Amino acid sequence: MAAPLQYSLLLLPFLCLFLALAFSSGEADPKVPAIFIFGDSSADVGNNKYLSGDQNNSNNFLPYGIDYPSENASNPTGRYSNGYNGADVLAQVMGFIESPPPFLSLEIDQITHRIKNITQAKNGINFASGGSTLLYYGSSDSNKSISMAEQMGYFRQFRTQLNETMTSQQIDQLFSKSLFLISIGGNDIGVYLAATAHGVEIELQKFISSFIVKYGDYLKDLYLLGGRKFGIVNVAPAGCIPVVKDLLNFTAGGCSNIVNAVSFACNYALKVLMNNLSSTLTGMKYSIGNSYAVFMKIIDNPGAFGFNDTKNPCCGSVENGCKPNSTFCPDRRRYVFWDGVHPTEATTQVFGHLVYNGSTEYASPINFKELVEDDN
Ligand SMILES: *[C@@H]1O[C@H](CO)[C@@H](O)[C@H](O)[C@H]1NC(C)=O
Ligand SMILES: *[C@@H]1O[C@H](CO)[C@@H](O)[C@H](O)[C@H]1NC(C)=O
Ligand SMILES: *[C@@H]1O[C@H](CO)[C@@H](O)[C@H](O)[C@H]1NC(C)=O
Ligand SMILES: *[C@@H]1O[C@H](CO)[C@@H](O)[C@H](O)[C@H]1NC(C)=O
Ligand SMILES: *[C@@H]1O[C@H](CO)[C@@H](O)[C@H](O)[C@H]1NC(C)=O
Ligand SMILES: *[C@@H]1O[C@H](CO)[C@@H](O)[C@H](O)[C@H]1NC(C)=O
Ligand SMILES: *[C@@H]1O[C@H](CO)[C@@H](O)[C@H](O)[C@H]1NC(C)=O
Ligand SMILES: *[C@@H]1O[C@H](CO)[C@@H](O)[C@H](O)[C@H]1NC(C)=O
Ligand SMILES: *[C@@H]1O[C@H](CO)[C@@H](O)[C@H](O)[C@H]1NC(C)=O
Ligand SMILES: *[C@@H]1O[C@H](CO)[C@@H](O)[C@H](O)[C@H]1NC(C)=O
Repeated sequence: MAAPLQYSLLLLPFLCLFLALAFSSGEADPKVPAIFIFGDSSADVGNNKYLSGDQNNSNNFLPYGIDYPSENASNPTGRYSNGYNGADVLAQVMGFIESPPPFLSLEIDQITHRIKNITQAKNGINFASGGSTLLYYGSSDSNKSISMAEQMGYFRQFRTQLNETMTSQQIDQLFSKSLFLISIGGNDIGVYLAATAHGVEIELQKFISSFIVKYGDYLKDLYLLGGRKFGIVNVAPAGCIPVVKDLLNFTAGGCSNIVNAVSFACNYALKVLMNNLSSTLTGMKYSIGNSYAVFMKIIDNPGAFGFNDTKNPCCGSVENGCKPNSTFCPDRRRYVFWDGVHPTEATTQVFGHLVYNGSTEYASPINFKELVEDDN
């Protein structure tokens, strides 16, 4: 039979990387064979630009990507950033030249979602999609955002496809050494806050417990599919985010402590969940990247990190967003926020390095470096 051989050859990069990892220790070698990424705009590296309903909403235009290095200088890649985002920075500190490609950028069979050329996925796959939530379907519908449930479905299909050419032992080995990076929750809090701002009463504890139950369900699914090393990015302090402050008419300087308390409570519950899951799921390892702590550290002392503006988006305005031809700040390095929601690459760089290599204040119970270097 010709097909299995052909697929085995296509799978060589996986196995080669795998062996390279085991037998060499050069600086540039990636710490993990692959990274599988799930989540929202904080990690989306371009999935949304392939969605039919995203045409108007898309960030696939300059000045998004103005600082993204490419052969022709600036390049709007579909990232919600002026340059690299968190998925990129983390992949880079782990030794990858670039972060894994967006799932929808691969050649995919439109009906079965099989990846036609699996070599394109040799460093992993990024399923994250701007607007996606854990609890709600997405910011709107499946033409505008890939929900977490759909992201899981795509990953499950990918695992089934590997099944044809690798033994389940090989797959388990590959997945157990790979990093499963999840960055989600900000939009859930956004939906919750928007609802309460419009007078809908939702009990905070109920919101948080359904959020955590859902999060736990997805983590268990990924564990059952072979994931063992989980890099979890917790939610940023919502009360510091320009559009949230605007939504709530928060005009004072600084952040809304009341709103930040919602993010803090979600993060606390997430910490309990992870501790609990890892004690019941044998072999599960994790690090929670404390996005909340990193943001607060920067916002409390911007000058220490070279920032000058912690309130205003660099591009466009809070009211009108960052649009094609919006004016934008000349020195992106000085702004914490790129648009009304998302951080600049500069902020993301601080985040990536602290989470990778920082103290337990920024990543716990171990940091991402300890997570990916753990060889057991
Ligand atoms: C984009 O926006 C315009 C004007 O609001 C609307 O007519 C058009 O249908 C939208 N296109 C998509 C693909 O949503
Ligand atoms: C860069 O420019 C060349 C020549 O115009 C073009 O063929 C290529 O597609 C461009 N690359 C990118 C990444 O835009
Ligand atoms: C498959 O993808 C790899 C990596 O992008 C590329 O080098 C190779 O030419 C592709 N193979 C086919 C048959 O398209
Ligand atoms: C999504 O797009 C497809 C194809 O363009 C269309 O048939 C479908 O009605 C759209 N769904 C929604 C909810 O807009
Ligand atoms: C992989 O293949 C095995 C044996 O054919 C089967 O039992 C298993 O359910 C498959 N797993 C997936 C995820 O498709
Ligand atoms: C914010 O102000 C606007 C305009 O004054 C008002 O319509 C809206 O209800 C206010 N929102 C909240 C959450 O107070
Ligand atoms: C911990 O896990 C157990 C077993 O899955 C579950 O019954 C319990 O509710 C969990 N507790 C928390 C705080 O997540
Ligand atoms: C940013 O720089 C400007 C000009 O140097 C200065 O006036 C302003 O106070 C600075 N703002 C912050 C938050 O450091
Ligand atoms: C942006 O500005 C350029 C130059 O003025 C113009 O040609 C282009 O159409 C504008 N693009 C949009 C999307 O408005
Ligand atoms: C991690 O931090 C240590 C101590 O601060 C430093 O020596 C090392 O170069 C850092 N490594 C990376 C990859 O950032």
